Amino acid sequence: MNGIICGTGSYIPSYTMDNNDIAGLVDTNDMWIRERTGVVKRHIIKDETTASMAAEAGKRALENAGMKAEELELILVATISSNVILPCTACEVQKSLGAVHATCFDLGGAACTGFVLAYNTASAYLEAGVYKTALVIGSESLSALTNWKDRRTCILFGDGAGAAVMKAGEGKGWLPVTHSDGGKGEALTCRSRYCSNGLTSKLRPEDMTDEANFIQMDGQAVFKFAVKRVPEVIQEVLEANALKGEDIFLYILHQANKRIVEAVAKRLSEPIEKFPMNLEEYGNTSSASIPILLDELNRGGRLKTGQKLVLAGFGAGLTWGAVVVEWSCPVKQPYGS
Ligand code: COA
Repeated sequence: MNGIICGTGSYIPSYTMDNNDIAGLVDTNDMWIRERTGVVKRHIIKDETTASMAAEAGKRALENAGMKAEELELILVATISSNVILPCTACEVQKSLGAVHATCFDLGGAACTGFVLAYNTASAYLEAGVYKTALVIGSESLSALTNWKDRRTCILFGDGAGAAVMKAGEGKGWLPVTHSDGGKGEALTCRSRYCSNGLTSKLRPEDMTDEANFIQMDGQAVFKFAVKRVPEVIQEVLEANALKGEDIFLYILHQANKRIVEAVAKRLSEPIEKFPMNLEEYGNTSSASIPILLDELNRGGRLKTGQKLVLAGFGAGLTWGAVVVEWSCPVKQPYGS
């Protein structure tokens, strides 16, 4: 048995803030942000929540797969920004979709590696024959974890959700490769949190003063970690599956920073065209970035059955990992069609 993707979906909040809007909050400018990160704008929740975005992305993925919610046996949500501690976001998705037969839980704390780890977890259950269907979601309201007074971090992040429906297929699965280094965890932390973003909600920015309640980051340490470890883990996953770079159609990396993606492509001696990016539009949406990009590629008709993709995530913990996906999602369904 093998876990295969049979549908994708995403949800992006309509409210946006571009770099000039950020320059109205902190001492920065559009050119600096574009050059150092590649980000031009980010989408921010207004009425949405992490759970509502997850549910909508999941609903769209089910429609894309041609599957009913009642057929789902597992719902996994990767998130570091759930709205409430209990119930978990996956159970809120279950309620919203009516997926009454699903077992539901969240993968919290895996941050920007979250979707890769959730995908691996679902694949392992499907391969073992424990479940036959799964809905895997990455959903984040990072705007609520962002210190909008800190120019070193607030330029980077955005909100959104992406999802993939998986089912058990014939054949042997691909081996994933994942790593963690808790010894370097101080590079990217968030000790506690406010339940609001202070931008589009009632809690006022002046009431949100404890910096430990927001993401804190040693940007250069994270940058160096990513450009070293991501190419390494991609090489490892190719070797583990007896594949070469030429076998891979696209590398779908966590969308943190354009310079990180470019550096990874260079270190792998692969053309940058094999590394699609959408961070210009969304910023870094943590666990949601890989499935949002996957959904855009799928709905845009870029992916064909049999093509091999590598998904690679990296982030807080520190954690990083890569997995090979053989595309098997025959339904092409652009939004609005
Ligand atoms: N606008 C203008 N200037 C800024 C700025 C901003 N938003 N943020 C920092 N600066 C300034 C710094 O104060 C510093 O000024 P100084 O030289 O006078 O002290 C200068 O720019 C360089 O700062 P530095 O932190 O060295 O910048 P950088 O080139 O490392 O870029 C990041 C900063 C955050 C863009 C970069 O480190 C990065 O992308 N890191 C990875 C972050 C990431 O992807 N995290 C998520 C992983 S999942």
